[in-house]
Amino acid sequence: MRYYVAPLEGLTGTIFRRIHHRYFPGADKYYTPFLSPSHDHVFTKREKREILPEYNEGLPVVPQLLTRRAEDFLWAANRLFEMGYPEVNLNLGCPSGTVTAKGKGSGFLAFPEELDAFLAEIFAGAQGPVSIKTRLGIRDPEEFWPILECYNRYPVYELTVHLRVQKDMYRHPVRGEYLAPILAQSRNPVCYNGDLIRPGDLSALTNSFPGLEAVMIGRGLMADPALISVLQGGKPLERTTLRAFHDALYETYAQAFDSRRNAMLRMKELWFYLIHRFEGAERYGKQLRKASDPRDFEAAVERIFTELPLRPETVPGW
Ligand SMILES: Cc1cc2nc3c(=O)[nH]c(=O)nc-3n(C[C@H](O)[C@H](O)[C@H](O)COP(=O)(O)O)c2cc1C
Repeated sequence: MRYYVAPLEGLTGTIFRRIHHRYFPGADKYYTPFLSPSHDHVFTKREKREILPEYNEGLPVVPQLLTRRAEDFLWAANRLFEMGYPEVNLNLGCPSGTVTAKGKGSGFLAFPEELDAFLAEIFAGAQGPVSIKTRLGIRDPEEFWPILECYNRYPVYELTVHLRVQKDMYRHPVRGEYLAPILAQSRNPVCYNGDLIRPGDLSALTNSFPGLEAVMIGRGLMADPALISVLQGGKPLERTTLRAFHDALYETYAQAFDSRRNAMLRMKELWFYLIHRFEGAERYGKQLRKASDPRDFEAAVERIFTELPLRPETVPGW
């Protein structure tokens, strides 16, 4: 099985990837949160910090692009291949209103003819392997069959399927019943994504689908940064390693942003998930969420780490 870290905007940027890989090595790939290549074909400073090879040295990183203009995709993808990336991913899954209103992300799935023309152009012009991350459709998962037929016409390096439709956002239960027919009908290799949170979720999946070769994990890994190591047979999350990882991440953000406050805000995004790995999280979770001064945040973190036991596994409450 190959294990990929899902792209999570606001969570899995370059600093997270580096520090996560240092404390919890083992992920086969880290997908970057999406970059939107602009019409003027220059990477912004912020984008360069995500994708310049020096920020990703020694890490298996796959940059992700979000656009509906083939010309912009090809410009960015081919620069990324020149930088040495072995794969570039296309985002056809983002459900956020600001993205879908422009017909991008999962919004592109509503325009099958345009999508087909876009794919024809990018697969003809890309100088390296292009993978796709997709949802099943906009409103109804049955929309996926013609979309899958369209993907089948192209040499998609890997098709990661997040088994939800756009209107499901992130909460609706994953449409698990669609995995078997997708595996049967996809001509391209399939990677499963959606709600793998505890080790048992993966065993249930592989028992039903022994041929499955790759999974992508997002929120479950934010709650338990050791999850991939555990799935690979490593030891469960330990408090001391988690604390060391947490502090390294916080201090590196503080240095990079030159602001403990901004570092705290970034860490709160992680704590939104991580808190569910602790017993009795309600006790200090609120204090942590409400902290506006980094010293209050640090005090809440200290209490969580010294007073709350780790749960044997994540109990998702997001
Ligand atoms: C906060 C947040 C940010 C996300 N950002 C991205 C993104 O930049 N690109 C993308 O393809 N998916 C993004 N996703 C979707 C995840 O990659 C993933 O498909 C989804 O969370 C389901 O997997 P999980 O249940 O393992 O988290 C995001 C999800 C969340 C919750």
